[in-house]
Amino acid sequence: MSRTITITGAAGQIGYQLAFRIASGQLLGDKTKVNLKLLEINPALEALKGVAMELEDCAFKSLGEITVTDDPSLAFGDTNFAFLVGAKPRGPGMERSDLLIENAEIFSAQGKAINENANKNIKVLVVGNPANTNALIASTNAPDINPGSFNAMMRLDHNRAIAQLAKKTGIHNSEINKVAIWGNHSTTQYPDITNALIDSKKAIDILDQKWVRNEFIPRVQKRGAEIIQARGLSSAASAASAAIDHMRDWELGSSEDDWVSMAVPSDGSYGISEGIIFSYPITCKDQEYSIVQGLDLDEFSLESIKTSEQELLEEREAIKHLL
Ligand code: NAD
Ligand code: LMR
Repeated sequence: MSRTITITGAAGQIGYQLAFRIASGQLLGDKTKVNLKLLEINPALEALKGVAMELEDCAFKSLGEITVTDDPSLAFGDTNFAFLVGAKPRGPGMERSDLLIENAEIFSAQGKAINENANKNIKVLVVGNPANTNALIASTNAPDINPGSFNAMMRLDHNRAIAQLAKKTGIHNSEINKVAIWGNHSTTQYPDITNALIDSKKAIDILDQKWVRNEFIPRVQKRGAEIIQARGLSSAASAASAAIDHMRDWELGSSEDDWVSMAVPSDGSYGISEGIIFSYPITCKDQEYSIVQGLDLDEFSLESIKTSEQELLEEREAIKHLL
């Protein structure tokens, strides 16, 4: 079996990690051959050719053809999976929403190119910030593709939350389940441990509520800025890793006794405005995702979720000319 995978911004920091991990079989397994379509803007094409040369030099058994291009119609031609990474990252002192106007045009153009050229069953994961609203822009500009095929990445936040819980409790990441991130990939996101299990015990029974409210939640919300402060650059390897986690679970299924966090078009679940790309607790099976239903939300959770919804509605208003 072979699959075509597009990575935009493939010569950038995240792209440089993502391309090699996908080519080595870490997304779809080593039995599936992957053809990579790598998109960059024209000034970065020489660097992208260098990336393609290095990919060749790895002699990966699961790598088929490599296409290097600055033409979106070629990059999205017949593609099955697209990672929309190419966009400007924020620097120190900026919020992700400061990138909204600058990056928005990229996603309207790429949405159109996906609509015209991609496989109609494509799965699209938007990573470029502000990811949720960029996913909305891309989806709206691709009217012939199911809006549910456009997701934004919250898996990095999800993984960060698990890692913080593991660090606090000394219990391994693999024994931490049912963490959820709700809302926007921004500081308004709500990392929720209400239903989380740590070594099969309820997290809320183990953890000090003050630590959860005053340390855990703000830490996860602001982890992107903490990384920028330390590295001088935004997260890249952890972002690429999370992107693979997201797409792999969507395609191959998530673990049965756990859930993941994915920003998907809201269907009105939990009272969230329909259409905005909102992160929910999710399970994946048979190449589809489902929002976990029937969870009780206490007052704090409801308020937190509403704050993030409000931010996404404001972002949508700011780019409504592109929808
Ligand atoms: P980077 O600057 O290293 O790379 C971005 C690449 O995109 C560059 O090579 C650039 O030439 C290319 N590019 C720009 N416009 C393009 C276009 N129209 N078509 C194709 N390529 C284009 O940045 P990075 O560190 O790889 O980050 C990329 C994006 O991902 C940023 O917006 C960043 O904020 C975001 N990000 C999101 C998450 C998340 O969790 N959602 C995590 C980390 C980073
Ligand atoms: C992250 O969460 O690390 C990314 O969104 C990059 C950023 O700007 O924080």
